[in-house]
Amino acid sequence: MGPMAAREKLSDIVTSFLDIVHDRLVSDRRGAVADYIPQLADADPELFGIALCGLNGRVYESGDTGVEFTIQSVSKPFVYSLALDDQGLDAVHDRVGAEPSGEAFNSVKLEAGTGRPPNPMVNAGAIVTTSLVSGRSTEDRFARILARLSAFAGRDLRVDDAVLASEQTSGDRNRALAYLMHGAGSLTTPVLDTLDTYFRQCSVLVTARDIAVMGATLANGGVNPVTGRRVTSAETCQHVMTIMATCGMYDYAGEWLLRAGLPAKSGVAGGLVASSPGEFGLGLFSPRLDSSGASVRGVAAAQQLATRFGLHVL
Ligand code: DON
Repeated sequence: MGPMAAREKLSDIVTSFLDIVHDRLVSDRRGAVADYIPQLADADPELFGIALCGLNGRVYESGDTGVEFTIQSVSKPFVYSLALDDQGLDAVHDRVGAEPSGEAFNSVKLEAGTGRPPNPMVNAGAIVTTSLVSGRSTEDRFARILARLSAFAGRDLRVDDAVLASEQTSGDRNRALAYLMHGAGSLTTPVLDTLDTYFRQCSVLVTARDIAVMGATLANGGVNPVTGRRVTSAETCQHVMTIMATCGMYDYAGEWLLRAGLPAKSGVAGGLVASSPGEFGLGLFSPRLDSSGASVRGVAAAQQLATRFGLHVL
C-alpha cells in the first residue's frame, strides 16, 4: 500500500470511530438546553456533531458538524490569547487570577481586597480579559476579537444578532459582576461598553468543525493547520492550554482532567473544544447541558475518544 492509500485508510478508520461514538451517544437525552438566555432555549436539542482536526490540517467529521451555534464561553481561551499577546502574562494576571474556582461559570466569588476574579475562564475573569484587549475604541476592540476568533477558525466569523439582543436583555448577573469588579479596581474600562464587547464575543457563530480547527491551532503552537497562518505564539498557546486544563470546565475541571485528560473549554450553547498538544483539536456540539453548563454528549464523546485512543496528556 502506497502512502496515499495508507492515508486514506487511516482517514476511514478515524471517521468510522467518530461515527461509532456518535451513534453510541445520539440516544443519550440527559441534560437540558440552556434557557437563561431566551434565544438559546430555541436550539434543536437533538443536534450532535463531532469534528477532529489533525495537525496536517485534515478534518474528520461525524454528525451535525456544519450547523452554526453561538460560541459562548468557548470564546474565552481565544480572547485570553489576545489579551496575553497585547499585555503580557504578568499584566494580565495582575488583574485576573490563575486558580480554579471550584464554582459555577457565573460565580460572584472575587478575591478579597483586590476584586480579582479567580481565572480567565469564569464569566468574571473573561469580562476582565475582554477589557484587556487593546483597541482605539469599543468597535476596534471587538473587531480585533472577531479577527482573532476568525484566524483561529480559518474563516470569517460573524455575530448572531438575535442571540446578542437576548444576551443583553438577560445579562444582569454579568453586569452586577462587572460593577463589583469596577468598584474594586480589577476592571478599569467602562462597564457597559466592556459588557457589550463580551456579549458580542459570546454571540459569534461557529460550527463543531470551526472549533476543532481552533483547538488544533492551539495544539499546533499557534499556526492554523488548515490555513497555514500563524495566529499567535507557541508560548501563548502553552499558557492558554494550561488555563484550559485547570479551569476550562469550571467546577468539573478536576474530574474532567481525570476522565478526558485534555485541556478543554465548554460553552452554554453546547460547544466544547479540546486540544491535544502536538496532536489534534476536537470540536463537539450538542445543546443539552449538564449541571456545570457543559454539553452532556460532548463530555461523553470526548471521554470515550480520549480513553479509546489513550489521549490523556497526564
Ligand atoms: O456570560 C454568559 O452568561 C454567556 N454569554 C456565556 C456563558 C457560558 O457559555 C458559560 N459556559 N458554560
